[in-house]
Amino acid sequence: MTHPPVRSEFSPVTLPPESLTARPDPRHFPPRFAWGVATAAYQIEGAAREDGRGASIWDTFSHTPGRVKGGDTGDVACDHYHRLEADLDLIARLGVNAYRFSVAWPRVQPTGRGAVNQKGLDFYSRLVDGLLARGVTPWLTLYHWDLPQALQDAGGWASRDTAHAFGEYAGIVAAGLGDRVRHFITINEPWCAAFLGYGIGIHAPGHTDLAQSYAAAHHLLVGHGLAVQAVRAHAPGAQVGITLNLYEGYPATDTPADRAATRRQDGFQNRWYLDPVYGRGYPQDIVDLLGDASPHAQGLVLPGDRELMGAPTDFLGVNMYSRAVVEDAPGDGWLHSRQVRPEGSEYTGFDWEVAPHSLTDLLLRVQRDYDPPAVYVTENGATYPDTVEADGAVNDEARSRYLQMHVAALQPALDGGAKVGGYFAWSLMDNFEWAEGYEKRFGIVHVDFGTQARTVKASGRWYADFLARTHAGVGA
Ligand code: FCB
Repeated sequence: MTHPPVRSEFSPVTLPPESLTARPDPRHFPPRFAWGVATAAYQIEGAAREDGRGASIWDTFSHTPGRVKGGDTGDVACDHYHRLEADLDLIARLGVNAYRFSVAWPRVQPTGRGAVNQKGLDFYSRLVDGLLARGVTPWLTLYHWDLPQALQDAGGWASRDTAHAFGEYAGIVAAGLGDRVRHFITINEPWCAAFLGYGIGIHAPGHTDLAQSYAAAHHLLVGHGLAVQAVRAHAPGAQVGITLNLYEGYPATDTPADRAATRRQDGFQNRWYLDPVYGRGYPQDIVDLLGDASPHAQGLVLPGDRELMGAPTDFLGVNMYSRAVVEDAPGDGWLHSRQVRPEGSEYTGFDWEVAPHSLTDLLLRVQRDYDPPAVYVTENGATYPDTVEADGAVNDEARSRYLQMHVAALQPALDGGAKVGGYFAWSLMDNFEWAEGYEKRFGIVHVDFGTQARTVKASGRWYADFLARTHAGVGA
């Protein structure tokens, strides 16, 4: 595989191309490294109307014609809610020592406020107990996009009240499960929730309003701060952090114009979230570009918000799938930049460039610029069109290779001083891929959505084998 001769001005360290085919060495990782798989509630659970669960914005969105490919919904998904024990056995069989899942807010509080729906909380209590009984550490995400519809009806994340409701909900979950769950992630990918949901409308709730998307982003970050406080209060000693989807940026050509465009893209995608989470408030260059749409111009930034958004955290979660190669594009949107598709690169089924060296760059850059106490890659993976053989096998070599290259890319990051504490493959199994429905498969386990049969793919077998060698201290 080749990659274009571009370098990030932010991250001078780039893997030589030959390491792109490198296989990871199990002996390279510290003994207590978290090796996991990740999922999210709406993508796998199904049982959308059971045991008192309220509606979420994704129920509404997916049931709105034209919003999700094929009219797919999460009504049944992987039916995980009913197949909990078997899925826990599957997780254990892979040999992971950590499992990242999310709690569906509308299961715990059907309208997002008020009394707890005990049956909803009990499901997660059984999940946590089942993981612990199998020697797997639970990593709990409080919000992976399934906002209770009742809160959306009252303004959703564009309203500050939602941040306060989220803080209360975080306290309920931390109080209910914090005796056993020691790792909490407040919010998954606020960029996606705000921008895809409120800015360009391809995710729930499907709004298309730039100013509203920045109101939403602000309240998601305020909600994060309130949730950190709630977890600290109700689950003392637990670790808490946020998960951001970060893309390391590279200028398309080594010109001042493309470098400046890359910096703007980085501000939009990465620094807008990293800076406030690390107590610096919002990056001024992007505030200036946003003009009237900035949270400041909208009068949404209240005294104390900077401290709240920057509440000290124990780790940063990084979801990484690709990189951004950027060129200057005067007049193109408010960022005046555009992502380009480098020739000669490999692409996944989502047309995302395979760029494992950018994971190394990204982790080193985040450590250098923000110095988090620990970083966990909380998602990394790829979709490809899988073929099921006559015997049921799925030989997903491309996904296997993708995972190997990205795990290998952690090694130079560790060597360079990035405090990487773990890696979670996205995803445990094929699931409801948001606006793409069930068409795009990310699992290392295949799911037949007709029969709900699970079959470990070649990528899952590679991961299990790698983890077995990791535990045994055996080389590549
Ligand atoms: C991330 C989401 C996750 C999944 C992957 C492919 O943005 O957090 O739920 O959809 O992308």
